[in-house]
Amino acid sequence: MSENADSATATTGAIRNHVGEPLVVLTDVEKFFGELHVLQNINLTIGKGEVVVVIGPSGSGKSTLCRSINRLETIQSGTISIDGVPLPSEGNGLAKLRADVGMVFQSFNLFAHKTILDNVTLGPIKVRKLSNAEARKRGMELLTRVGVQDQAEKYPAQLSGGQQQRVAIARALAMNPKVILFDEPTSALDPEMVNEVLDVMVDLARQGMTMVVVTHEMGFARKAANRVVFMADGQIVEEADPDTFFTAPKSARAKDFLSKILTH
Ligand SMILES: Nc1ncnc2c1ncn2[C@@H]1O[C@H](COP(=O)(O)OP(=O)(O)OP(=O)(O)O)[C@@H](O)[C@H]1O
Ligand SMILES: [Mg+2]
Repeated sequence: MSENADSATATTGAIRNHVGEPLVVLTDVEKFFGELHVLQNINLTIGKGEVVVVIGPSGSGKSTLCRSINRLETIQSGTISIDGVPLPSEGNGLAKLRADVGMVFQSFNLFAHKTILDNVTLGPIKVRKLSNAEARKRGMELLTRVGVQDQAEKYPAQLSGGQQQRVAIARALAMNPKVILFDEPTSALDPEMVNEVLDVMVDLARQGMTMVVVTHEMGFARKAANRVVFMADGQIVEEADPDTFFTAPKSARAKDFLSKILTH
């Protein structure tokens, strides 16, 4: 990841990763749930090392967008490719895709009956075919990286929400993904735990990880995003760098949305 080292500006501390070759490419994507047209003509290219924040009103299709990139949802038309390879529909290709595309959900989704360390080693052992010893060594490194190494032998319910979410991030990292999708990773957390998770995400950005982050945390967007993508009613209405988007949104929808979230 080091080739994507940030070009942080000393004055603001903002990270703006170098954006490399296209990694995730969505072309003319259409998705329906029955009659409901949830993704409408989505065209979006995310470069290697890029941090894209997706923002927009409830029901605008942000989660569906993430789930489609990870092929947890199928699309009706258009194409999605990861590193030049179109999404596979099933079989081994799908397992490989899921390993390449990490996902961190709002609800931490850890395996309740496995220890923290087992949560992080399971995927690498099963899918990446690491030995137990290798997976545990790397698992401990990752737990250390997110600051929960002391919790390795505990079970998820014994950890705070913020700790669990950091474990979920370590679990995603354990697969060496090409990109990690975050779907509102801090919105289920008690307020005092939000920053400990955002700090881990900022570090990932700083290390050059390609990230798609659905979040309304403007501080994170301003600090780490290359680009903000604003969705409404299944469409990408507007996209811009965070400073431009938050200070001078163009569309009426974005202005309206920002006026609502800024008053909270
Ligand atoms: N499995 C499903 N079946 C039918 N409709 C669905 C399904 N999942 C989502 N939808 C609908 O698709 C639309 C987009 O939902 P989505 O969850 O992607 O929105 P979102 O932008 O993530 O919203 P939120 O901010 O509330 O998380 C909504 O109208 C939702 O009700
Ligand atoms: Mg959602």
